[in-house]
Amino acid sequence: MQAYPVERPAVSMDNPNDLIKSAEVPGDVAQLLRSACYDCHSNETVYPWYSYVAPVKWLVYRDTEEGRKELNFSDWGAMKKMDQATALDDISSEVEEGDMPMKIYPLMHPDAKLSDEDRQKIMDWADATMETLFD
Ligand code: HEC
Repeated sequence: MQAYPVERPAVSMDNPNDLIKSAEVPGDVAQLLRSACYDCHSNETVYPWYSYVAPVKWLVYRDTEEGRKELNFSDWGAMKKMDQATALDDISSEVEEGDMPMKIYPLMHPDAKLSDEDRQKIMDWADATMETLFD
């Protein structure tokens, strides 16, 4: 049995360590991450209308809670460099393989549908950032 959170994970817009605020992210990549990843991987979740409807809302809560636990862009600046490096490597491979964003998500969020070119942009950014981390 998997446990479903009953409480909606909290939203906070005050995130001084946010990736896009604290690291160098080109505007187009920032926009892609915001529209395709931030609902599940940041504290700035924008809950969609269907997240008000049971039982779907528990799925959304769970994806948000688990997504943040795996990777929270709102905490980026406070992460250890090694953890940032691991995260960038994971981001690149998840995006390359089309495993992220979760497949169900772009069905409800057409903006989050990534083209091959979008995927390449995210991967190039992640790979380049990884290389500069330990300079
Ligand atoms: C609908 C919610 C949702 C969206 C949108 C989403 N993720 Fe995830 N992500 C999750 C969940 C839940 C997990 C943990 C379970 C899993 O790995 O499938 C996860 C895991 C991950 C992991 C860790 C994988 C691992 O196994 O190490 C990475 C990296 C990741 N996501 C990157 C991204 C990126 C980059 C985007 C945007 C392009 C994105 N995610 C969009 C929910 C989401």
